[in-house]
Amino acid sequence: MSQEHRQKSGFETRAIHAGYEPDPTTGAVIPPIYATSTYKQDGVGGLRGGYEYSRSANPTRTALEGALAALEEGERGFAFASGLAAEDTILRALTKPGDHCVIPDDAYGGTFRLFDKVEKLWGLEHTPAAVSDLDAVRAAVRPGTTRIVWVETPTNPLLTIGDIEALASVAHDAGALLVVDNTFASPYLQQPLVLGADIVVHSTTKYVGGHSDVVGGAVVVRDLDLAEAITFHQNSMGAVPGPFDCFLTHRGIKTLGVRMDRHCDNAEQVVEFLSSHPKVSQVIYPGLPEHPGHAVAARQMKRFGGMVSFRHADGEQAAVDACARAEVFTLGESLGGVESLIEHPARMTHMSVAGTDLEVPADLIRLSVGIETADDLLVDLDRALS
Ligand SMILES: Cc1ncc(COP(=O)(O)O)c(C=O)c1O
Repeated sequence: MSQEHRQKSGFETRAIHAGYEPDPTTGAVIPPIYATSTYKQDGVGGLRGGYEYSRSANPTRTALEGALAALEEGERGFAFASGLAAEDTILRALTKPGDHCVIPDDAYGGTFRLFDKVEKLWGLEHTPAAVSDLDAVRAAVRPGTTRIVWVETPTNPLLTIGDIEALASVAHDAGALLVVDNTFASPYLQQPLVLGADIVVHSTTKYVGGHSDVVGGAVVVRDLDLAEAITFHQNSMGAVPGPFDCFLTHRGIKTLGVRMDRHCDNAEQVVEFLSSHPKVSQVIYPGLPEHPGHAVAARQMKRFGGMVSFRHADGEQAAVDACARAEVFTLGESLGGVESLIEHPARMTHMSVAGTDLEVPADLIRLSVGIETADDLLVDLDRALS
């Protein structure tokens, strides 16, 4: 798909066609899995299509990276072995010891652990601030040393909303970059680069891949200097996905739009059901008018997503028991796949934030609402909560 055609195309067309032209020799409409580590050179330094060694580039990965860039309306996309590998590469490419980052006070536990237990040892400081509170983010910035304002929106697991356009201004006023973890929204629902963010990062393990069969990460940028820094570090650090993983992730991308619409349809039904359930003390979903971030979410997201969190009226043990009783909702970590998942963040995905400012409520249950028949999901939740 040419650059000009890509710019004029709708999201679903880009998701299906961007990044790859049918193979010139065979006409294969899907990128082949190039299971090769190296490439024959036509004389020393005579690379065919720039391919030299598969840590640096592999055609199956190139196709995926083109699609990722197109989905986020960026200039360059980069695929990684996991979301955390993508995050680590951003941090090591763009910060140095003594620098500082502002991070969400409600973030994926593994992201917090990366900042707090790994990057900190190398001299990278961080301060948590609520992504929904611009004054708190501004106050957390250390003029001269803050290099990155890092946000999730919606956050994991409390679904707090940050105003990307306003956060970009706060970051840029301080001479920092805005990084948005767009995993929960997916590029179908929200495109942070269009709203002024500098870097988008994904755990493609989630909605982008969409089928719970592959772990991966992505970075997308518009600025070519940032692209150069990420290219250098992607190759130098080597946390790249293999061609089989790239193939699976790319296959998932093609149906992202239809899947997301169904995730949103089902999540809306689940939210309505839980809102009137006697065992539920609070439903957290950005689509609810009473959600504090509803207006911002309505402005910057196409719809409100497939993630729903709620608090059990009878406390922690009742929440744990309900998670164990569900059957159609599979008890498990992760999110964004076609199948519905249920989990207890305090004892599962967010155990690494226990005892910190990022601790999550003990009675919280997080749902990744899948694309099964909605009525079956409601019956299952009713049984789990009874
Ligand atoms: C919002 C968010 N960001 C990043 C990650 C890390 O991604 P991965 O598990 O692919 O390393 C996750 C994983 O759950 C996540 O939920």
